[in-house]
Parts: sequence; C-alpha cells; structure tokens
Amino acid sequence: MAGILEQIEPLKQSALEEFRAAAGLAELESARVTHLGANGKFTALMKQLGTLPKEEKPAVGKAINLAKIELESALAERRADLELKAAMPTEATDFTLPGRRRSLGKLHPLTQATEDIVRSFRKIGFVVADGPEIEDEYHCFDALNTPAGHPARDTQDTFYTAGGSRLLRTHTSSVQIRVMEKQQPPVRIIVPGRVYRRDNADATHNPTFHQVEGLYVDRNVTVGDLKGTVEFVFKELMGSETRIRFRPHYFSYTEPSFEIDFSSPLTRKMGKEWLEIAGCGMVHPQVFENVGYDPAVWTGWAFGFGIERIAMIRYGINDIRLFYENDARFLKQF
Ligand code: DAH
Repeated sequence: MAGILEQIEPLKQSALEEFRAAAGLAELESARVTHLGANGKFTALMKQLGTLPKEEKPAVGKAINLAKIELESALAERRADLELKAAMPTEATDFTLPGRRRSLGKLHPLTQATEDIVRSFRKIGFVVADGPEIEDEYHCFDALNTPAGHPARDTQDTFYTAGGSRLLRTHTSSVQIRVMEKQQPPVRIIVPGRVYRRDNADATHNPTFHQVEGLYVDRNVTVGDLKGTVEFVFKELMGSETRIRFRPHYFSYTEPSFEIDFSSPLTRKMGKEWLEIAGCGMVHPQVFENVGYDPAVWTGWAFGFGIERIAMIRYGINDIRLFYENDARFLKQF
C-alpha cells in the first residue's frame, strides 16, 4: 500500500470530481457520504493515521486536515449552487396567461343608500350636518321636549357611560338641537348618522343602526311643505310610482306629528300596500324656545327615518344583520 501522504491527493481529486459531477442534491449527498461520511474513503484515511510512527503523524495529519477543509468548502459551494438550481422554476413562464385580478371593492349598501338620500336632498337646497354619537341627556331628550320620566324615553333606552352623564344617542334628532343652538334660521339640514338602542339583534333590529334626520326652519313653513318634500325624496329613492300618506302620531318634539307610510311596487312585492317608513311633524314651539328661536316668528318641520329600512326595501334584504357581517359574498351583490 502506498504511503498515506501519497494517497491524499488522488483521493481528494476524485472526491472533488464527484462533487462537481453531482447533478442534484441527492447525488451530492451520496458523494459526501462516500468520501466524508463516517465510513467514507477520506475518513478511512484519517483512521490510518493511528498506525503511523509518532514522528510522521504531525505532517501527515496536517496534510489530511488541509485536504478535508478544501473538500468541505467545495461541497458547501456545490450544495449552494444545486439548491439555487432546485429553487428555480422548472418550466418556462407563460407570459400570455391572463393576470390574476384582485376584485374591486364596492361601497357598502348602507353607504350607497345614504349617498342617494343625501343627493336628492341636496337638489332641493339641504346641507349635511353632523353631531356627536356620544351625547348628553339634554340634547338627546330634554331639549327635544322629552323630560326625565317621560314615557317616550322608555322606548329609546340606550347605553350610558359610567357615571351616567353621557349616553349613546338614540336618534339623530339631537343634532337638530345642536345645529339650532349654533345658527340662526333659516335652517335646511339633513343628518345621516349612526344611532344606538338597547335592543337585542333580530331580523329587523340591531343595537346600532343608521338614521337620517331632516330639519327645515323658516317663516311660514307648512305641513304642505313637509309633505311635498318627503314625496319628492321618496319618489327619487323608491321610484316615480311611489305614493306617500301621513298618519297622525305622537312625538314630543313635533306638533302635529305624523308617521309616514309609502306605497310602491317595492311594497307590493313585500305583500303590503303601505309600509311605515318615517316619523315627522311640525317643530314643537317648546323646542324653538329651548334653542332661543322665537316661536311666534319661526316655523319648521322635521323628520327622521332609518337607513337600514330604506336599503332593505330597495334591495329586498330580509335580515338587518346581514349589513354588519361583512361577508363579501353578500356585499358584492349591490
Ligand atoms: N327620532 C325619531 C325616532 O328615532 C324619528 C323622528 C320622528 C324624527 C319625528 C323627527 C320627527 O325629526 O319629527 O324614531
């Protein structure tokens, strides 16, 4: 057998040759095992070191180590190359394939309904006003002629902040007061916004929902103005065949007060000739007193209705909770 020293170089060359020739990671691994594995050829050489006379060991050991370092770095380099190759696509990219499209988002049906309502009121000179969702009792109830203990408060139970000084507004009517406190007549506003009630969710109720409030204050305003305006807007929203009727009702901040019913092909589709849709009336003189308007000079009307209800009738939606689930399959239908 040739001396150990003479065996190193040919063994190293054949290992390098095999590493270079390996066409894939599996092949490279088997070449590694052949040469550097526990029972590999190079490892066998190192084991022979023990048989050498003491004075030859350092030089031969050093030569073996240098060769081993060279082999290991050649192995690592080849492995990196092969890994890169394995990560590359194996088939040519087909640039003629159609791209993947992201579907475009849409406005929420409640937003669409709100925007349509606002658009029709803008046509007749109304502007959008806004107010806080966290209100005080005064603006939500007292100033609207609904003092503590008034039975109308029971129907609008809501959420109070700890300490009870603030509440989540039960209706957008509070914004009537906020606007009139700040500006002198004439007033022509609509107020779309979120409102809250202590209701359990079911097909027609949700603790959070949306309303639109309207308020018109000027000299010599009549119920005829109110009816004409409501009729105009509902024809725009629900189609030109829409008819409306007023039924006497009670609200503490209007006198007289009415509920508005409407009739259209949409209501007939739901199996009803008339559907109740809104509350309204002539602003109560006490409300004018509360905001510092002279009730002998100023007259006005107000109304409020639920946006969900409008959207449900328009789109034929039978469960209010669908609006809040954010299920894209539902939302993209509108
Ligand atoms: N605030 C009432 C409600 O939440 C709706 C309403 C009725 C508003 C009559 C008005 C009104 O402005 O005059 O049910």
